[in-house]
Amino acid sequence: KKILFVTSEAHPLIKTGGLADVSGSLPKALAELSQDIRILIPYYQALKTFGNVRYVCSLRIDNRSVNILETRMPESHIPVWLVDYPTFFNYPGNPYVDENGNAWENNAERFALFCRVAVEIAMDRVHQDWKPDVVHCNDWQSALVPAFLSLEDNRPKTVFTIHNLAYQGLFPASTAATLNLPGQLLSPEGLEFHSLLSFIKGGLVYSDRITTVSPTYATEIQTPEFGYGLEGLLRHRNHVLSGILNGIDLEHWNPESDPLIAQTYTAQTLAEKKANKAELQKRFSLPVTDGVPLFGLIGRLVEQKGIDLILDSLPAILEMPLQIVLLGSGEKSMERKLMSYAHLYPEKIAVTVGYDEALAHRIEAGSDVFLMPSRFEPCGLNQMYSQRYGTLPLVRRTGGLADTVVDAVPQTLNDNSATGIVFDEATAGSLLEAVKRAAILYGNPKAWEQMQINGMSKDFSWQQSASQYLDLYRSL
Ligand code: ADP
Ligand code: GLC
Repeated sequence: KKILFVTSEAHPLIKTGGLADVSGSLPKALAELSQDIRILIPYYQALKTFGNVRYVCSLRIDNRSVNILETRMPESHIPVWLVDYPTFFNYPGNPYVDENGNAWENNAERFALFCRVAVEIAMDRVHQDWKPDVVHCNDWQSALVPAFLSLEDNRPKTVFTIHNLAYQGLFPASTAATLNLPGQLLSPEGLEFHSLLSFIKGGLVYSDRITTVSPTYATEIQTPEFGYGLEGLLRHRNHVLSGILNGIDLEHWNPESDPLIAQTYTAQTLAEKKANKAELQKRFSLPVTDGVPLFGLIGRLVEQKGIDLILDSLPAILEMPLQIVLLGSGEKSMERKLMSYAHLYPEKIAVTVGYDEALAHRIEAGSDVFLMPSRFEPCGLNQMYSQRYGTLPLVRRTGGLADTVVDAVPQTLNDNSATGIVFDEATAGSLLEAVKRAAILYGNPKAWEQMQINGMSKDFSWQQSASQYLDLYRSL
């Protein structure tokens, strides 16, 4: 099949979160299944290219002249088409928000243009002799593509993947006029959402298939708690809605060969993992000791990730014999509060505000426990990286976390399926109980090591998920 994969970020070109990891590795896995896949992405200033950038063609959209350039993914050499429109994309910083975390004020125009370019490519009006069979769109930034394509004859089939329903691309209704959107799309059955313009509804209403990045999340978003008012629409479309669990890039996240960590190791040489713990403790000026468990956390500092639960339980957690290292950035108030704990308890908690990929690998390798108490989690990748690194994830039972972590209870400890600690209620008290359970388990090295081995031997490869996507494309 010919597949056009439309995404607003892709590792290692540009990354703000898990969508980039998926966009970097799913196309590769599909190419390995002999699919003819191309990636379409905006040419942000911060986007890193590897090797040549070639001019493909120019097109005019709404009086704007846009260039399409081509580069290749490193290693896989999958073609990446870059939407080059400097006015919208060639400025420094994050793809979506400014230095203060506020959305760029012209986001609607930027991503509507991106979607229009995708449509021109999908219909091969760019005359490149390549018309995709399937256009696979991801999150709100590419969600207008299925909507626009629904108005075309002879269009390719469309798949829309929800990586996070919390981000919807909502704009004032007047934006529809600015964007020159076709009137047929503008109704409550279409792109309108409570008198606002909703980009994500383009994907939810008009695509041939909808997927989420874990089976549990596919069920959760059909309920008011996780649906943000879109649960009715999702229930209405649930015959085309399914969940396909993300995989992880097993080469990039491999403790056996990871060049970014102090000491490589395998399930057979777990004692060597401790060198990474010592290195991490040094890096964060924490006492170097294996006598207490080291808890790590990496992520966007936002409510989704349960950072508020951590803040609420920290006073009690910090009474316990343990250490915490934390890497993340996001809401300023959370950053500040975490930093102030780090100042008050320098022997127990260390915080780095920022984005640092190498450090993320070192935290995965050096921690004993990985904290991920998310309020909701469409899939989550770090809990899978953790298991691969022999670091036990401590997670809340939601979304992809529920689908990938097996709680340590007597039965799962007995049958060697336990891989982490799972708690249910989104409360500081439940989180604290889970941390206590982790600390008790840590005092039982034999059980601990068995859990590490259980996690390290799980298969989180893309193969299986990629073939599920392929089945989905073929069913269209
Ligand atoms: P989400 O996409 O909701 O942010 P995921 O768990 O799916 O959550 O993916 C997050 C990805 O981004 C992981 O690869 C994680 O390591 C990475 N990441 C998040 N924050 C940081 C950071 N501050 N520094 C380095 N990597 C980060
Ligand atoms: C989103 C979700 C995260 C998921 C990622 C990749 O950012 O928040 O749970 O793992 O997309 O699909």
